[in-house]
Amino acid sequence: MRPEDYITREGKFGAHNYHPLPVVLQKGEGVYVWDVEGKRYFDFLSGYSALSQGHCHPKIIKALTDQAQQLTLVSRAFHADILGEYMEFACKFFGYDKLLPMNTGAEAVETALKLARRWGYRVKGITPEHAKVVVCSENFHGRTITIISMSTDPSSYADFGPYTPGFIKVQYNNVAELEEALNDPDVVGFLLEPIQGEAGVVVPDEGYLRKCYDLCRQHNVLFIADEIQTGIGRTGKLLACDYENVHPDILILGKALSGGVTPVSAVFADDEIMLTIAPGEHGSTYGGNPLAARVAIAALEVVRDEHLSENAFEMGILFRSEMEKIDNPMIRQVRGKGLLNAVVTEPRGGKAAWDICLALKEKGLIAKPTHDHIIRFTPPLVIDRDQMMEAIGIIEDTFAQF
Ligand SMILES: Cc1ncc(COP(=O)(O)O)c(C=O)c1O
Repeated sequence: MRPEDYITREGKFGAHNYHPLPVVLQKGEGVYVWDVEGKRYFDFLSGYSALSQGHCHPKIIKALTDQAQQLTLVSRAFHADILGEYMEFACKFFGYDKLLPMNTGAEAVETALKLARRWGYRVKGITPEHAKVVVCSENFHGRTITIISMSTDPSSYADFGPYTPGFIKVQYNNVAELEEALNDPDVVGFLLEPIQGEAGVVVPDEGYLRKCYDLCRQHNVLFIADEIQTGIGRTGKLLACDYENVHPDILILGKALSGGVTPVSAVFADDEIMLTIAPGEHGSTYGGNPLAARVAIAALEVVRDEHLSENAFEMGILFRSEMEKIDNPMIRQVRGKGLLNAVVTEPRGGKAAWDICLALKEKGLIAKPTHDHIIRFTPPLVIDRDQMMEAIGIIEDTFAQF
């Protein structure tokens, strides 16, 4: 089959809820992927930051295949030997009393919202049905009805209503607006991305997270960090909140928690919050399954043992400093932290970010625009210096073409 045939078949039988770059991939290893014709590419999307440990990391694949031959699912109706081991390992890794395992990021966000509301009623003492959660403009937390009810992006929420009530939207990176919102005594939580990924890698001002956290403390409101995209080394620290020594009351992780191998997400909190949910009140058939548990341990071990946070920190500095040297009128801004970066482009001659991504693909690097004019560059954290310099060369040559 030719690449066009794969694309046509997908379009014929699959829902049109994505607009993929026209490349058909067949194999991946480390920072590289290969298409069906054997052409190699640098993967600068990394499964929207899920593949931080690189494609098919041997240690993670071994964990997956070993466990797959042993036991894959018990459901939480029974115990599994590996689950407690994973929970203990992950709780100690991130510094929490407890973990609640889910599968996708969106489910973990939903779980965090339920926990915050529960805590609000049972611990803070809010009147039933009154709880509110403060969220930020331009947020992206997933695709469920409740989550899109928090969205300010019409392409996420339009014509999917009626929406879930109970959210107050404030401007991202605006401490004063948060402070104002927190005066409402029914607020139970403040949910944010420490860096907004889908919005185009929007990095807030230094001190923003700390100030928000302190305000939440003062108002007895839970600080809930969605680190599904920023977490596990992506931004050059284990968590993006670590840059400001903020320890979220509720931490949400997903994506790289499995190294891109199987859907694994988790919500972390201490007992006061986590134990407000009792048996039978929340769950998921696959949440915490043995495969997920084994894979997640391996995925975290790889980040720790291969010093991927540190590598992301250094490679991120290299990426931004080299990109800033490129003199091209289509590059308006280079921004990010660690290996969560974006280039804000200036359209020229009718050409925009999508056209640049098509040209990058021709030269052997795949990346995806977010909005019309921003290209996200998020390679696997295992990328080394030589690979990074080669990739930057491709990006420079591609921009020069326009
Ligand atoms: C910050 C953030 N939260 C939540 C999600 C949703 O995760 P999932 O697609 O696994 O549901 C994403 C996905 O891009 C994300 O970036």
